[in-house]
Amino acid sequence: MKILTVLGARPQFIKAGSISREIAMHNNLHEVIIHTGQHYDTNMSDIFFEEMQIPKPDYFLGIGGKSHGAMTGQMIEKIEEVAEKENPNWILVYGDTNSTLAGAIVASKLHIKVAHIEAGLRSYNMKMPEEVNRILTDRVSDILFCPTSIAVENLKKEGFPFATSNGRQIVTNVGDVMQDGAMFYKQFAKKPLLANKEKLEAKGYILCTIHRAENTNNLERLKNIFEVLSEIAKEKQIILPLHPRTKKLLPSTLKLHPNLTIIDPVGYLEMVWLISNADLVMTDSGGLQKEAFFFHKPCLTLRDETEWMELVNIGANILVGADKEKIFNAYKLAFKNKIDFNVNLYGDGKASQNIISTLIRENN
Ligand code: UD1
Ligand code: UDP
Repeated sequence: MKILTVLGARPQFIKAGSISREIAMHNNLHEVIIHTGQHYDTNMSDIFFEEMQIPKPDYFLGIGGKSHGAMTGQMIEKIEEVAEKENPNWILVYGDTNSTLAGAIVASKLHIKVAHIEAGLRSYNMKMPEEVNRILTDRVSDILFCPTSIAVENLKKEGFPFATSNGRQIVTNVGDVMQDGAMFYKQFAKKPLLANKEKLEAKGYILCTIHRAENTNNLERLKNIFEVLSEIAKEKQIILPLHPRTKKLLPSTLKLHPNLTIIDPVGYLEMVWLISNADLVMTDSGGLQKEAFFFHKPCLTLRDETEWMELVNIGANILVGADKEKIFNAYKLAFKNKIDFNVNLYGDGKASQNIISTLIRENN
């Protein structure tokens, strides 16, 4: 059985780590990987393939740093060429990026079965490019691999399952592949060089990331976030591995407290170390919200909504948006909340196995 995997952005490389490992255990499965090139810096792409031992992509399309339309359109054209040549049994797409949508559209038009990993998530904010990508991808997918029970409920509310070019959709909760990954790779967690210099373990610190369009494309929100981070940094060090997009858009006039330590993006193994040793996570990342929970850390989410409502429901995650006062107050309270991190929200760490065995079973 041949699986054509479409990858393009950092969170997808991280999710692919566990799935590729699982595929490699089956002699009769052959994975062909397309890298769209959506992310291209070494520490946004190559590093993950190397350290997670994901097979080198068979095709590299080099389509990155463009507008949404140009990026998605060019990806569709090139992925179609590869899909026609390879004629796979499945096209596998992950998450909610432009690369995800492009892969799903190609599969659907060529009547190749498409499986969507991380299906059913919703923020209900149609201004987010990710929300548009996930809704359209879900609609044409043959198998919707949901990570949570809320995701399954979201799909039911929208009237899923629907018909596709190949028959009727399968909607199934298999658990979260990011949990599989976090549990497996934590044994390889790598202390970043910076940690020695800054004596991070001893001091206790907050880990922060900011890159989502709703924050970076809105100068007011971006300024508010960095100003309040600078306030918090007076009391507690903040480590911020900065996405290149945010770095480009951050006004150089902002005066930031020196305790707000901005570093380049790090590899996943260093990230796992940084999360494991942090006191608190502040982020607008989807993946990091869950990883905070996997490593038993409270999380403040710098957005107005989240796809991971189960974390909000148990008090592990607080939505703070980009409002300075709300962020500062939540930071003050974050260490006082009692959170049950042992509740099972994301499955039993076997999402990858569940996905691969379903693909084998449904390949008729
Ligand atoms: C994309 C995803 C987002 C995901 C994020 C993970 C979409 C719509 N959004 O957003 O859901 O959370 O990836 O990182 O697909 N850039 C570089 N080097 C890189 C990659 C990006 O400099 O390796 C810069 C470029 O200026 C680029 C900008 O970041 O134009 C935005 O990159 P893009 O892939 O369009 O979106 P992300 O913000 O990364
Ligand atoms: N990540 C990383 N290095 C970084 C920042 C993030 O390895 O410098 C990892 C993070 O641990 C998570 C994934 O990237 O596994 C999330 O990707 P990102 O925040 O870019 O995207 P999102 O999840 O918001 O789509």
